[in-house]
Amino acid sequence: MKSFALPGLALGVATSATQIDGGQLDTEWHRWAGAGGAKDGSTPARAADHWNRVTQDVELLVELGIKHYRMGIEWARVEPSPGQFDPEAIAHYRGEVAALRAAGITPLVTLFHFNLPGWLVDAGGWLGPDIKTAFGRFTRKMVQELGEWVDEWIPINEPNVYATMGYLYGVWPPEEHSLRQAVAVMQAEAEVHIAAYQMIHALQPDAKVGTAAHLRAFQPASAKNLVHWLATRTGDHFFQRALLKAMNTGVFGLPFRRPRGVAARRYYDFQGVNYYTRSTLSGSGDQVPANSAVNDLGWEIYPPGLIEVCRWVNEAYPGPIYITESGTCDNTDSFRSRYLYDHLAQIAASDLPIERYYHWCFTDNWEWAEGEVARFGIVALDYETQSRTVKDSGRFFADIIANHGVTEQAYVRWVEPQQYRTS
Ligand code: FCB
Repeated sequence: MKSFALPGLALGVATSATQIDGGQLDTEWHRWAGAGGAKDGSTPARAADHWNRVTQDVELLVELGIKHYRMGIEWARVEPSPGQFDPEAIAHYRGEVAALRAAGITPLVTLFHFNLPGWLVDAGGWLGPDIKTAFGRFTRKMVQELGEWVDEWIPINEPNVYATMGYLYGVWPPEEHSLRQAVAVMQAEAEVHIAAYQMIHALQPDAKVGTAAHLRAFQPASAKNLVHWLATRTGDHFFQRALLKAMNTGVFGLPFRRPRGVAARRYYDFQGVNYYTRSTLSGSGDQVPANSAVNDLGWEIYPPGLIEVCRWVNEAYPGPIYITESGTCDNTDSFRSRYLYDHLAQIAASDLPIERYYHWCFTDNWEWAEGEVARFGIVALDYETQSRTVKDSGRFFADIIANHGVTEQAYVRWVEPQQYRTS
């Protein structure tokens, strides 16, 4: 039997503002990419021009039967200078969430998806003195303005990825190589998450608030090697476990400091999980094991890892799990349907309370340092003409939604012909 049902799993797609909206703005990404940061020299100014195509994109969501849409707000757009909100930009986002609701689609809104406004970068960003006040002001405004249509919020997307890519590995802005700074950014993100959680609930008592945690399945390259084992435990702890604990419970262990005035209690209503790959660690870093299935960016495709991370997360933080991102870079859409199938099959076979699955991404989009080259969408984007074409994987996704699972026919049509590439 190749078919399976997905009772109780709501399927949707995920996006982020900087990656799809387009426009000449002053954000950390527009500055960095404008100075040639992205590998292909592109900037987010073009992206999917979603800002001007909201109506068309909502129609496309409807055509595919998608009922859940994760979207971001471009902070620099709604607050172009400190404390000065732009009524037109806010009206635009109000219009978008209203249109989604009118179309029967539930929005899940991310406030910070790696996208600091330039004025906040100039004030030191996540390491500066203004971040907490600024984030509070932004959060309050968004909940007040969008709360009529939105009651599901993610204050911060993938805080660990933002902190490590920008401040430890130096491959994203601001290109720092400092463990101390990366830890300080994570500390600030955790404190900001907790404050935002409380503020949103004060304004909207029934809101659902959680983080979208980027979680990787960690394993030692050799299970019997003590060095590999230690590297794995350390990586797992510092990259994801310590931070998630601080954010979800207010308990700040190593490497963090205990902040003043933060009570130990629950600061999540759902656990968001962004899952893409596994990290196999030896003494000298992260490798993809030989002969593994890999995507077009070389990331290992490891479907059981989705459940492995959800299991530990559920033991530590019981409650509903939303897969807030899962997807793959497949530039020719030649294995994405198989990827979808394999990951959803893991969910179908598990007993965990996984309630949502948001595929990353809806359309192809501007993929940070990879620029326009890496394609993650179930809808193809022609950057020149901005035309959208539903990929086979998009048709397959729509079929899964319509049938509440994968039928035998769908398997034969979309999954069976596909193979992964191996490393
Ligand atoms: C995640 C990000 C998302 C997108 C995918 C491919 O780490 O949250 O914006 O870039 O990876």
